[in-house]
Amino acid sequence: MSRYITTPIFYVNAAPHLGHAYTVIASDVMARHWRQRGEDVFFLTGTDEHGEPVALAAEKLGVTPQELADKNAEHFKTLGPRLGASEDFFIRTSDPRHVARVQEVLERVKANGFVERGTYEGWYCPRCADFKTESEIAEGNRCPIHKIDLLREQEDNWFFKLSAFQEKLEQLFADRPDFVMPPRSANEARAFIERGLHDVSLSRSKLRWGVPVPWDTDQVVYVWWDALLNYVTALSFAEEDNDQTSTYWPATYHVIGKDILKFHAIYWPALLMAAGLEVPEHVLVHGFLLMKDSSGEETKMSKSLGNVLDPFEIIDRYGSDALRFYLLREVSFGQDGAVSVDGFVTRYESELANDFGNLASRSISMVHRYRQGTVLATAPDPDITAVIDPLSAAVSEQIDAGQPSQALETIWAGVRRLNQYVEETAPWGLAKDPEKAAELDRVLTTLIDGVRVLAILLHPFLPVSTATLLATISADGPGDTDLAGAVMTGAFGHEIRTLEPLFPKAI
Ligand code: ME8
Ligand code: MG
Repeated sequence: MSRYITTPIFYVNAAPHLGHAYTVIASDVMARHWRQRGEDVFFLTGTDEHGEPVALAAEKLGVTPQELADKNAEHFKTLGPRLGASEDFFIRTSDPRHVARVQEVLERVKANGFVERGTYEGWYCPRCADFKTESEIAEGNRCPIHKIDLLREQEDNWFFKLSAFQEKLEQLFADRPDFVMPPRSANEARAFIERGLHDVSLSRSKLRWGVPVPWDTDQVVYVWWDALLNYVTALSFAEEDNDQTSTYWPATYHVIGKDILKFHAIYWPALLMAAGLEVPEHVLVHGFLLMKDSSGEETKMSKSLGNVLDPFEIIDRYGSDALRFYLLREVSFGQDGAVSVDGFVTRYESELANDFGNLASRSISMVHRYRQGTVLATAPDPDITAVIDPLSAAVSEQIDAGQPSQALETIWAGVRRLNQYVEETAPWGLAKDPEKAAELDRVLTTLIDGVRVLAILLHPFLPVSTATLLATISADGPGDTDLAGAVMTGAFGHEIRTLEPLFPKAI
């Protein structure tokens, strides 16, 4: 089975922040999990380089938009690798191959009769690059997301006939209740459609920085159409001389934040239909990371609001696994959630270092202390296999349903159960009684086997530390990370290595 998962492409008007990291991490967990199942996965991320958000930022800095894009795209390119993310391709929308494909698709949309001339008049947010409808305007004609005054815009440009898709979109949402997930976001999109769809600008006459409209080069393509199309264009040139569109399109999941729901849930399927292309399987929407501002109020973390946690700083001190874990654990995927340095440190110490790291360390060190490092091959305790063995199917189901935080909680129940098992069986007591040698062997094998299965399940979340752990307890080599191996078998009978603390206290 092939799966195609995408993140939004990020504006290069500033450096990457934790909100961007969050989407990349969640998507990466899903991609890695599917790969563990032997599925054929394509994972795409990249940068959105055209339009007002970038043009305005460049103007402020006194550089050209392309210069700013080139500089900041490099930062975004390093984000994935620094996060331990495993993207297959990084698209930049200033790539001439993307530009050419956007023009081709829009020519087709026009040939199909969905483009006409018009005049736009209304409220516009230059940070969202969004023509706001009545219901999207905060008091005093402000942007509800960026808290800035909206601009009154009037311009003659080309329009996309979104209104022609009123019924088709209603039908799409009726036929496929999980087209947009979770249901709250689907309802929000449906409500927007039910208020009645209006045609949307396809081009901008006031901007120069963008994809030239092929039939009217005085105008550039409105940045959202250009940006959305990345999901399709990337497949055609990610690999040289190998167009992968038919393998991976339609996308399995577009993972996005709730700020850009309208574009992905409404504009995007309409544009695809207009171009005669299939719509994606799911749009998966997550909430906002919130930060306390100076007045103590929780607001969306954003560069323009100036309240950001720097993901790179956290990674430098604690490693990428710690950041991945914290974000997916602290904020229930799909909901908003507050993040903070204090909250990070608490979870790092109590859950990663204590619950999981310490479980692994003490299990391994007991094998060395009591059995010279050899784990005996013996049937693991059925009380534990009954808890651990079903986790793999449960986790798969939750990841397939776009619920990475819930999957992590499922695994963590297994971590807690194994810790409890250590307390119940008290191997240090068994070790004092020679008559209990077989019982001790069984406890130790159960612990190491349980830790092994948990490490496989956690691998998509904690790729670095679980790789270390699996190599430590494997007979030789790196240790298998395939999900098929996430069942307790007790098939040991080999010596394991020693383990340095996986999550040391920060210096
Ligand atoms: O909107 N909490 O780019 P963008 C959670 N270029 N996620 C957050 C976040 C926060 N506080 N802040 C940002 C754009 N994000 C367009 C997208 S796609 C065809 C074009 C994440 O740089 C989240 O995924 O403003 C959000 O949707 C995205 O960054 C917006 O990034
Ligand atoms: Mg934004």
